[in-house]
Amino acid sequence: FGLLKRVNAYLGEYLSKKSRNKESFSDNCFSRSSSNSSIVTEEGLFEQPEPLASGTAVMEKILLRRSSLLRDQQQAWQESLEGREMLEFRQSLPAYKEKDTILTAILQNQVVIISGETGCGKTTQIPQFILESEIDSARGAFCSIICTQPRRISAISVSERVASERGEKLGESVGYKVRLEGIKGRDTRLLFCTTGILLRRLLVDRNLKGVTHVIVDEIHERGMNEDFLLIVLKDLLPRRPELKLILMSATLDAELFSSYFDGAPLIHIPGFTYPVRTHFLENILEMTGYRLTPSNQIDDYGQERMWKMSKQAPRKRKSQIVSSVEDALRAADFKDFSPQIQESLSCWNPDCIGFNLIEYLLSYICENERPGAVLVFMTGWDDISSLKDKLQAHPVLGDPSRVLLLTCHGSMASSEQKLIFEEPEDGVRKIVLTTNIAETSITINDVVFVLDCGKAKETSYDALNNTPCLLPSWVSKVSTQQRRGRAGRVQPGECYHLYPRCVYDAFTEYQLPEILRTPLQSLCLQIKSLKLGSISEFLSRALQSPKLLAVQNAIEYLKVIGALDENENLTVLVEPKLGKMLILGAILNCLDPVLTIVAGLSVRDPFLTPLDKKDLAETAKLQFSHDHSDHLALVRAYEGWKEAEKDLAGYDYCWKNFLSAQSMKAIDSLREEFLSLLKDTGLIDGYATSCNDWSYDQHLIRAIICYGLYPGICSVVHNEKSFSLKTMEDGPVLLYSNSVNARESRIPYPWLVFNEKIKVNSVFLRDSTAVSDSVLLLFGGSISRGDVLLNPQIVLHLHHELISAIRLLVSEDQCDGRFVFGRPD
Ligand code: CDP
Ligand code: MG
Repeated sequence: FGLLKRVNAYLGEYLSKKSRNKESFSDNCFSRSSSNSSIVTEEGLFEQPEPLASGTAVMEKILLRRSSLLRDQQQAWQESLEGREMLEFRQSLPAYKEKDTILTAILQNQVVIISGETGCGKTTQIPQFILESEIDSARGAFCSIICTQPRRISAISVSERVASERGEKLGESVGYKVRLEGIKGRDTRLLFCTTGILLRRLLVDRNLKGVTHVIVDEIHERGMNEDFLLIVLKDLLPRRPELKLILMSATLDAELFSSYFDGAPLIHIPGFTYPVRTHFLENILEMTGYRLTPSNQIDDYGQERMWKMSKQAPRKRKSQIVSSVEDALRAADFKDFSPQIQESLSCWNPDCIGFNLIEYLLSYICENERPGAVLVFMTGWDDISSLKDKLQAHPVLGDPSRVLLLTCHGSMASSEQKLIFEEPEDGVRKIVLTTNIAETSITINDVVFVLDCGKAKETSYDALNNTPCLLPSWVSKVSTQQRRGRAGRVQPGECYHLYPRCVYDAFTEYQLPEILRTPLQSLCLQIKSLKLGSISEFLSRALQSPKLLAVQNAIEYLKVIGALDENENLTVLVEPKLGKMLILGAILNCLDPVLTIVAGLSVRDPFLTPLDKKDLAETAKLQFSHDHSDHLALVRAYEGWKEAEKDLAGYDYCWKNFLSAQSMKAIDSLREEFLSLLKDTGLIDGYATSCNDWSYDQHLIRAIICYGLYPGICSVVHNEKSFSLKTMEDGPVLLYSNSVNARESRIPYPWLVFNEKIKVNSVFLRDSTAVSDSVLLLFGGSISRGDVLLNPQIVLHLHHELISAIRLLVSEDQCDGRFVFGRPD
């Protein structure tokens, strides 16, 4: 284990040297290309106007020529009929009226903060103003504008919109870049990317050479990446005095940012939404005549599920906000309402998202209200999927000739995404069930009615148990206002809050920033890989610093898995879990399957579970499994896809087996990338020599997975009919339903190693592999944590044997791949 740690450290050092030229390999990108843009790698995507060192007059000439081309194209478009129509639309947006003020402020200040209501044109217009003014001044090819978005789906949809507003295809002057995907061409000067992509660029280019403007969008969300980026950019500004930083927020509370950036000027774009009538639960009940009873809430999906959960795991102490909601309810005075409504309100259950009420209200709107789309804010994907099932069974809401029922969430496919923006046929009402993604990032133009369940799934972090949580919690007042604002885009609208007014009054003003409520491991690694000094010192300079206990937990965890040494120095540059698996995979000659597993863990889950075919999809996944391992199921699925690809039937194969063809292709490319990096390190000679007859031995592969995923471990306890799972920190835990182990009644191993755990009412484990005692003992890292209750003497002896064996293997000069390490059992 110690030796492997050293090999690991060596790889880390090697990669950090290499990273001067190249990005961290786990995040390398393979981009799509548009007609005039060639396929580009991650570095290529950020290829900037070439540096104008002395003697590069030729280059300056080329850039000047490109600039005048860009200007000619822009002028031609603006003079065309379509261009003029588009310009008229743009001029109608509130942001356009502030164009001169904004451009002057940017010219005169290094940092400018702009706020304005959602839909006023911040994201689509402000980057364009800058680009157009640079192009007009005939220096267009010299500028490079990066605009960050917190979510990949908004980066893609906004770049498409901006390109079409400029009468161009993506990849001309406008492009985008999200993880594993991007379109950019030679003349791209405005790039929309996720915040993560810009952070990764900072890894290899600390000064953002060649970038002229950085626009950080949606700062009001206070996402962890954005808060982190702001600290880094604040440090960078004095080193790059000519770099401009523009921060954009959908809410007015931007003073905090202004004081963080030494009193940077604030520009507010006045709003333009139509008035929205607000209905709280009491008004809804009065208007529709719906009666709440304990039974119609117990029948609710939400309530039923909560009840099931509480049977499976003891309910934790209720959160602060729930108790303040209960206090508010107790103190509320509903005497202005009829006795029936008072009675109905007294039955209202704050734990429950009223599925029956939503169904009733939607059918009421369809029957009685004027035309207009309806936007329903739900907590997350699972609620959306259950509500959709319920609504589809309804005689009106499930009738496609009357209702176009759509969903909107972060992982939806691009085809689904486009439907949301389209207008339905006459007489058909569009209903979109959405997560809080439609609160500020995505604007659906024709919305007139909004239903707000009052909750959102919030990632949070239980620092005491070191467990990330994803629980529905009450939103803030600011979020509620944003949701309400979505109804007044095109005409006066209506907003229905599915909770009483007194509950709204108990909401907090703002949501807690993500940096204060989520685990900090990956942030700590980023601080270290960017060489930003001491983790705690760096985080103390954040807009709002996280708690010391959370920082210490993160550092401790990184030390346990060997990613940081005792002095908090980075030992690996790649995601440590993946790096560890690759190295052991190479040493034990199991590289082929391990490459697939590691690549699979770096992309989005290739096993799809479409909302309406969950059961079929989960059964399809089962056919890949005999070994109590989701990771091995992935290996099989990939092998099958690879075979099918030979007959050009990859798509069919994916379609039949509920697999994402895009993820499969990404896995394929990442495998190549990982392999070439391992070759560069000298750890392997080539693909052929890193495989042998034992390469697919499932015991060896299990050992490697265990080595990578430790300390993600839980024990399996069998009872008569099935089994239960327990981790040391959380007690009882459950498996996600799409895990192959979730359908088993017995697991013939005492342990499961897992990739990720998350708390959604109960703690759930994603992707797991069953392992034996001996595998955990040999490959499960530190024994001092008490996970393995065996005689320490035996443990030491076995560790010693393992280390000797590996030492022999590593020092073996003729180590040509014929060496078989042997099976752990
Ligand atoms: O960023 P902000 O919320 O201020 O607005 P935006 O995303 O720039 O959108 C401005 C306007 O452009 C919206 O109100 C929509 O009318 C329009 N838009 C669109 O039609 N299609 C898109 N994909 C994005 C924006
Ligand atoms: Mg926006």
